[in-house]
Amino acid sequence: MAEAKKLFIKTYGCQMNVYDSERMAEALGASGYVTTTSADDADMILLNTCHIREKAAEKVYSELGRFKALKAANPDLKIGVAGCVAQAEGEEIMRRQPLVDLVVGPQTYHRLPAMEKAVRAGARAVDTEFPEEDKFEHLPRGPRAGRGPTAFLTVQEGCDKFCAFCVVPYTRGAEVSRPVARILGEARDLVARGVREITLLGQNVNAYHGAGENGDWGLARLIRDLAKIEGLERIRFTTSHPNDMEDDLIAAHGDEPKLMPYLHLPVQSGSDRILKAMNRKHTAESYVRLIERLRAARPDLLLSGDFIVGFPGETDQDFEDTLALVRKVGYGQAYSFKYSARPGTPAAERAGVPDEVASERLQRLQALLTEQQYAAQDAMIGREVLVLFEKPGRETGQMVGKSEYLHAVHVTDPTVQIGQIARVRVTGRTSNSLAAELV
Ligand code: SAH
Ligand code: SF4
Ligand code: F3S
Repeated sequence: MAEAKKLFIKTYGCQMNVYDSERMAEALGASGYVTTTSADDADMILLNTCHIREKAAEKVYSELGRFKALKAANPDLKIGVAGCVAQAEGEEIMRRQPLVDLVVGPQTYHRLPAMEKAVRAGARAVDTEFPEEDKFEHLPRGPRAGRGPTAFLTVQEGCDKFCAFCVVPYTRGAEVSRPVARILGEARDLVARGVREITLLGQNVNAYHGAGENGDWGLARLIRDLAKIEGLERIRFTTSHPNDMEDDLIAAHGDEPKLMPYLHLPVQSGSDRILKAMNRKHTAESYVRLIERLRAARPDLLLSGDFIVGFPGETDQDFEDTLALVRKVGYGQAYSFKYSARPGTPAAERAGVPDEVASERLQRLQALLTEQQYAAQDAMIGREVLVLFEKPGRETGQMVGKSEYLHAVHVTDPTVQIGQIARVRVTGRTSNSLAAELV
């Protein structure tokens, strides 16, 4: 048998890219590749890219430049660009960076083995189509060795919302939901391979409406069916849009014990004027009411969110409204970004806020969010939580895992095993994680 070729994948961006990278590794596994953790000895390097903010694409180009020496040392080395930059830039990547052999968009990963063959034969290959077929159905499933007890599972892809700042509807295409049976099958398969927690992924995951028994199923129904799988202990989902948070999904947070009490629900801004300009189609008030309903169903729900500051036209008052919303809601954790104009999106045509102003606002918002994050973590001290242990920690004898609330928790206890769910008492906070001891 020929010696296995080595594949190095570097993943940028969202969890969906993490999931896709695993699928690509499996697909190329069938072509004789094994993954390696270093670019230096690779026969194929794949960058799975993100296009969400400007710096993301620039990072990819500077990374590609660094492979020049590697390619000079190994003429058989093939370099590919996948993901959302690949989709957005297509052929342009080839022109700008002659080192690149292969460009593959997020909807054509199942064609990667054929593209690899062409590239090995000396061609340069580009595929950024949006084909009809479900790419995941055409990807072989390889072993999942050493991947731990948690997994992502894509159930929905693409977005029809067209927020004025966002490239996702262009890079990932229209909203598509995978059929229920395939998701259940994939979930059972993951559980059989040791997975105890599944995070359902979608750019707009709560808009899920996949073909099931007797018609389309929503996300809540899918979650309730997944919850019946024996051995699957925890279910999460991300990312959601406030307008798709339907009644049965809110209810599931209260009555489905396997659904974890953590929700990532981006609001972007607390100003109705800006929300309108963003084409978000909800208001600050409707968002707050939604949070109240969720908390009525699950009082200890830990909330996460996304914020953009410095969106074109954002005034001091608009920004104050965002701070006010954050104070009203109280986040356990959140992501915040300075607005970045994306070519081709409606907002890119509008005059931006001066960079110093945006930076100053971002700093103030992040200070508030960090304060809330620490407060939420500190509120856990003395409490008992259930932790699913995932891997050894930084210090000897340490194990780390996640609580129900997605807090990173570490214990030092020789009896703790990876994959175990154990009850622990939180004893303190060390910057971003919680220290605990077994109960
Ligand atoms: N589908 C999800 C997340 C999309 S991208 C949702 O609708 O919430 C993740 C986050 O990146 C967004 O929530 C937004 O906060 C941020 N983002 C997207 N486009 C951006 C841009 N042009 N500039 C700055 N931040 C952006
Ligand atoms: Fe982008 Fe808006 Fe769609 Fe989220 S809902 S992916 S922010 S367009
Ligand atoms: Fe980035 Fe594409 Fe995900 S732009 S955030 S990798 S959907």
